[in-house]
Amino acid sequence: ALIGKGQYRHFMLKEIYEQPAVIGDTLRTFVNPQSRAIALPELPVDFATLPRLTISACGTAFYAGLVAKYWLESVARLPVEIDVASEFRYREAPLPEGGAALFISQSGETIDTLAALRYAKEQGQTILSIVNQPESVIARESDAVLPTLAGPEIGVASTKAFTTQLTVLACLTLAAARARGALDEKRAAALSAALTEVPAHAAEVLNHDEAIEAMAHGIAEARDVLYLGRGPMFPIALEGALKLKEISYIHAEGYAAGEMKHGPIALIDEGVPVIVCAPSGPLFDKSAANVQEVMARGGSVLLLTDAGGRRRIGKGPKWTIELPAVDPFVAPLLYAIPVQLLAYHTAVLKGTDVDQPRNLAKSVTVE
Ligand code: G6P
Repeated sequence: ALIGKGQYRHFMLKEIYEQPAVIGDTLRTFVNPQSRAIALPELPVDFATLPRLTISACGTAFYAGLVAKYWLESVARLPVEIDVASEFRYREAPLPEGGAALFISQSGETIDTLAALRYAKEQGQTILSIVNQPESVIARESDAVLPTLAGPEIGVASTKAFTTQLTVLACLTLAAARARGALDEKRAAALSAALTEVPAHAAEVLNHDEAIEAMAHGIAEARDVLYLGRGPMFPIALEGALKLKEISYIHAEGYAAGEMKHGPIALIDEGVPVIVCAPSGPLFDKSAANVQEVMARGGSVLLLTDAGGRRRIGKGPKWTIELPAVDPFVAPLLYAIPVQLLAYHTAVLKGTDVDQPRNLAKSVTVE
């Protein structure tokens, strides 16, 4: 079928705006709408006894896996090992007996991810995958597939595939947590309720589009941009930096906020915008300290936070975007959206080919 851009100037913008709907579609396949209980299809993996889950993927899908590592370890108490597929496939890593491996891919055709899958299979792992293309080779070679219902993604820079991957991974985390007895009933119910509210909150986040477009003028002039986050916000910082460099060609780096003092702080001056992803929660004060360090060196901070975070930080950040206050568990799904919009508007200001950035391919089927 021919897919159009509709009212949107680019596929990427259309796909960013589809997120409330496709996250909802994906959730409806895994969450019982009445009870709000997680209902995954039967998987060939017993999470109660699984010794470890190995995750591998490339690009944006890898960052979805990195968020899942934080979730699965802290919420489901399941040890996770994760690596980019191009490294993992050659590392000759020993994999545990009775282990399982999970591969994440929008296209289901990425050659490095496929090679990593085949390695894990040779090592006797049960193969799970999260793919957007159910007919793809990665789907066919998996023991079980959890689909993302993102619909066709045309923009080379992944957006809705990422947030639907996170949606599936959040459901998988809650299912694994239940199997492992890692959550009490009240907390489990609170987390799945928070998840079912993500589509409505994602729609609210899109209301900041114009404000983000205005901020993009400040980003478009920069030579370097730094993204910081802690915990599950660290992969969002990495993804934000990836999006910006992919489509605007501005050099950007994502860093674990606490690691800033071990290097990137040397780069900070008036010309370096620093995007800080910091929802309020147990890690907020640590990120707030990083914000102060950046400002003390003349860097301009763009703070992504919620009402509580905004109140606690006071005056100082050059720009603040106030996102809905949510359980920190689901925050990565929402904080992914403003970094997409910021990259998008910056690229438009730069006049680049947003949907077809130079040198990049939608699906990388050669090594
Ligand atoms: C390419 C695309 C990225 C994508 C990566 C992995 O580099 O440009 O947007 O994240 O491949 O693709 P996959 O289809 O495996 O998710």
